[in-house]
Amino acid sequence: MRTEVGIVGAGPAGLVLAHLLHLRGIDSVVLEARGREYVERRIRAGVLEQGTVDLLDEMGVGERLRREGLVHEGIELQFGGERHRIDFPSLTGGRAITVYGQQEVVKDLIAARIETGRPLLFEVGDVTVNGVETDAPSIGFVHDGERGELRCEFVAGCDGYHGVCRESIPAGVLTEFSREYPFGWLGILAEAPPSNDELIYCYHERGFALHSMRSPTLTRLYLQCRPDEDLDEWPDDRIWDELERRFALEGWMLNRGEIVEKGVTGMRSFVVEPMQFGRLFLAGDAAHIVPPTGAKGLNLAVADVRILADALAAWFEHGDESRLAGYSAEVLRRIWRAEHFSWWMTSMLHRLEGGDAFDVKLQLAQLAYVASSPRAAASLAENYVGLERV
Ligand code: FAD
Ligand code: DHB
Repeated sequence: MRTEVGIVGAGPAGLVLAHLLHLRGIDSVVLEARGREYVERRIRAGVLEQGTVDLLDEMGVGERLRREGLVHEGIELQFGGERHRIDFPSLTGGRAITVYGQQEVVKDLIAARIETGRPLLFEVGDVTVNGVETDAPSIGFVHDGERGELRCEFVAGCDGYHGVCRESIPAGVLTEFSREYPFGWLGILAEAPPSNDELIYCYHERGFALHSMRSPTLTRLYLQCRPDEDLDEWPDDRIWDELERRFALEGWMLNRGEIVEKGVTGMRSFVVEPMQFGRLFLAGDAAHIVPPTGAKGLNLAVADVRILADALAAWFEHGDESRLAGYSAEVLRRIWRAEHFSWWMTSMLHRLEGGDAFDVKLQLAQLAYVASSPRAAASLAENYVGLERV
């Protein structure tokens, strides 16, 4: 098998890259370890920045997103028994975010890929990345019980944090930067109408809580918990009681419903530099992880491949190597901005293990500043909706 770009992973990074390349007339093969059903059902992120929505639209895959996505012009911060709205359009020159599940984005991208007739292989095993330090890289894999080899000009490692591409780079090439947080999020999806028009980021002495949604009948909620929290200790009633306690506000009620999905996510910050080794380019979670508090993970993955697609097109169309050579430095500017924002939101909103009364006072002072100063609020808002330039 031969192609121009071999793409490992059919998450948002791999699928957006494949479609951007297709639109430039560049051929690719996408190899995905899981089955189609699995990747289309995997519930993860939900907040799309304005720039992500605009790109999906320009790519011709934004039709359902425009129809079903929920446009939000603000978020609420809750602390000290009050809610404070951060208004995005007035603070960012008219920008907003859209709530639309990651698995819906993935469904739309898979449908678009299949329509192009270009290859997307599911349930691919034993992926190995070879010869990326030469002009003739290849990807070994097993599909339908048969061993295959994909020869290509470039390999895009879009295979997420646990993928094989980053691991295939020899020791000593990459520098890792990371931070583990001593907490996680217990997330649920419930068949209940959202209890509030806006997302609520809630600071509480018992721990952080987040109210989000997926549709007018589906609520997405998160609770700060231990990173290794045992879900068996969390029967549905306990989850609802804990959410109610943290979101409690005079005259407000949390809608309950059947919990249709439950999971615990650990939280970490992680970056590798550079994001290239020879003809292998890493993008998305394969190269960086943010804690979810700033809703940046999916958006960063899309921002990476937008630049990678342009750089690859410059090479294929004009033989220009400079964009590829500059890829890593260019995307790392946005990545580190998002790393800082996500760390800052996480530190401001979570109960800190081992923290003392002084830490609590500092967090409350910071929250009060963001809620009361238009300049502080604008900093949160412009990062949240996504900076146009970094
Ligand atoms: P992924 O979506 O991870 O896609 C990588 C793909 O590669 C996967 O389909 C995987 O199956 C495939 N793959 C892996 N190994 C191989 C291999 N060897 N061969 C072939 N294919 C392979 N972000 C937020 O902003 N908010 C959230 O609430 C949020 N919740 C999350 C919850 C969880 C459990 C996780 C894991 C992430 C969450 N994120 C969240 C982060 C966000 O979902 C990611 O940043 C986003 O999915 C990154 O896209 P990606 O394409 O880079 O990686
Ligand atoms: C959602 C996830 C986030 O990480 C976030 O900051 C906001 C919303 C969500 O899943 O809806």
